[in-house]
Amino acid sequence: MQLKELKNNKPEKYTGISLVWHFLEGSKAYFLISIVAALAVNGLDMITPQIIRTTVDNVLGDEPLKLPGFLMEMVQAAGGVEYLKRHLWIMGLLIILVAICSALFRYWNTMFNGKGAERLVKTMRNRLFSHIQRLPFSWHMENQTGDIIQRCTSDVDMIKNFVSEQLTSVFRIVMMIILSLSFMFPMNAKLTMVAVFFAPVIFGYSAYFHSKIRDRFTECDENEGVLSTIAQENLTGIRVVRAFGREKYEKDRFEKQNNIYTNEWMKLCRILSLFWGTGDLISGLQIMLIVVLGSVFCVQGEMTAGEFIAFVSYNTMLIWPVRQLGRTISEMSKAGVSVERIRYIMNSEAEQDKPDAVTPDLKGDIEFEHVSFGYGDAKVLSDVSFKIPRGTTFGILGSTGSGKSTLMYLLNRLYDLPKENGRITIGGVDIADMKGEWVRRNIGMVLQEPFLFSRTIGENIGITQESVSLTQIREAAAIACVDGAVTEFAKGYDTLVGERGVTLSGGQKQRTAIARMLMQKTPIMVFDDSLSAVDAQTDAQIRQALKSKLKEATVILIAHRVTTLMQADCIMVMDKGRIAEMGSHTELMEKNGIYRRIYDMQMTLEEEVTADES
Ligand SMILES: Nc1ncnc2c1ncn2[C@@H]1O[C@H](COP(=O)(O)OP(=O)(O)OP(=O)(O)O)[C@@H](O)[C@H]1O
Ligand SMILES: [Mg+2]
Repeated sequence: MQLKELKNNKPEKYTGISLVWHFLEGSKAYFLISIVAALAVNGLDMITPQIIRTTVDNVLGDEPLKLPGFLMEMVQAAGGVEYLKRHLWIMGLLIILVAICSALFRYWNTMFNGKGAERLVKTMRNRLFSHIQRLPFSWHMENQTGDIIQRCTSDVDMIKNFVSEQLTSVFRIVMMIILSLSFMFPMNAKLTMVAVFFAPVIFGYSAYFHSKIRDRFTECDENEGVLSTIAQENLTGIRVVRAFGREKYEKDRFEKQNNIYTNEWMKLCRILSLFWGTGDLISGLQIMLIVVLGSVFCVQGEMTAGEFIAFVSYNTMLIWPVRQLGRTISEMSKAGVSVERIRYIMNSEAEQDKPDAVTPDLKGDIEFEHVSFGYGDAKVLSDVSFKIPRGTTFGILGSTGSGKSTLMYLLNRLYDLPKENGRITIGGVDIADMKGEWVRRNIGMVLQEPFLFSRTIGENIGITQESVSLTQIREAAAIACVDGAVTEFAKGYDTLVGERGVTLSGGQKQRTAIARMLMQKTPIMVFDDSLSAVDAQTDAQIRQALKSKLKEATVILIAHRVTTLMQADCIMVMDKGRIAEMGSHTELMEKNGIYRRIYDMQMTLEEEVTADES
């Protein structure tokens, strides 16, 4: 599946060209030197046929010498044509000298081009990554990770290759065409016309294929995106695949997509082969015609033998760039697709605070006022209003999908609440008027699905801090009741988490994430179903430790287990995006509503389990 199409009403920040220009910062000078060197190579390449022509016509033959003024003077000073006839090696030496100079410029051309290309790709990667980091959470939720990664790798490479291999050679191509024609025309105008006649044919031909090739490339790229997404999803979800014995299904799914992808490339190859094959035929015909007509003109005395040889050389020099232009056009379509795909990312609006965003003290009361919210069209929260006094513990209970996590995403500004959909205030200040980063830094949140980085446990816990000591890490880990488990690992807090290290149990993961959040020492703490994977005893132990250590903090506890919440100062029961009930445990029990029903049900279950066990 593809990234969503741009649906911007606002003017876009970058056009394709301005984006490439933006990326070229830091590499422009390199490309410029490389272009100048390429032009010098061109100029030198033009000289060799002239030396050959002079050798054939004037040194070996007896045609009168025709050279530009200063060259003529040089030849006269050296002893005239007669001298050259006696020292033929001079002509050979001249050719070698030109070749050496040409090689030198070619070296600079390649070297500076390479440097420019690497700089360019580095800038592209850095800028893309830094922009993606600043994109809203909702953007990341809407777009596929595999596809984003593909855009940051293949598409970036595609643009680099186009700029360094094609775009810089456009100058060389144009110069080559102009130079060859300016040498050909004075030699034989009629034959030049014949040579030029074919150029528009080849151009027209390229233009025709251009549109076809572009479409095919888009198909290929999109299918590659789907393929990487399948592979990426499959690898991250490998446990589920194994657990359900879905290997064959996944293999078939991958193979099917791989087939589609390969077929798209086959189609593309067919078009490209046709394009290049026919192109060869056309240029072959052109060369043949020039050789035949040139020979006729030679025989008729309209051209000398030397001019004929030089003309054929220049004609080859003309044909190459004309064909190359065709190639550049087809590459341009490929690169154009990649630029579009990267432009989508770069034009997606980064998170931005209001210009007068504030950073107030967040120790005050939290208040949700008539909050309604939905992801897209489906409504998730409807007119939710409640208040959490500072320093209290607030419990949220509710069936799955009732909008509990969504409330916390809104509080944390992971999603912005549209203006007309109510207000969330902390200490009386609307969080929409605060700096997003400030809000997040002051609201510690243990997400429902904690994610740990592939680093050591110690690093994972201390990740929110600039510098941190092991004692501080252990202190947080002790409150989260994970210190004991970690010290049992051979490498303790230096144990690597994830693929290259140990696999933590669900409960250990949750508790490590709790410890990580505790390190932030925020005035507001949210535990979104964070004690679901620990046993009731550990659950109670963690809550006890939290209570005694964090007296000042406002704590929001989301849970499905009533016992986790029953000691909270206030408990809110959510049902289908609305508040069903609210009050303390005793009040809610007296109310005899949903809370009571859930409580009774869970207690009965627990008693049954205890009875079964004994
Ligand atoms: N990023 C999203 N895009 C679209 N819909 C979403 C998104 N996140 C959640 N939803 C939907 O919003 C509704 C509320 O989800 P939410 O995660 O807030 O529920 P919850 O009360 O936390 O449930 P649970 O107890 O299972 O964690 C669900 O119907 C869910 O499918
Ligand atoms: Mg949830």
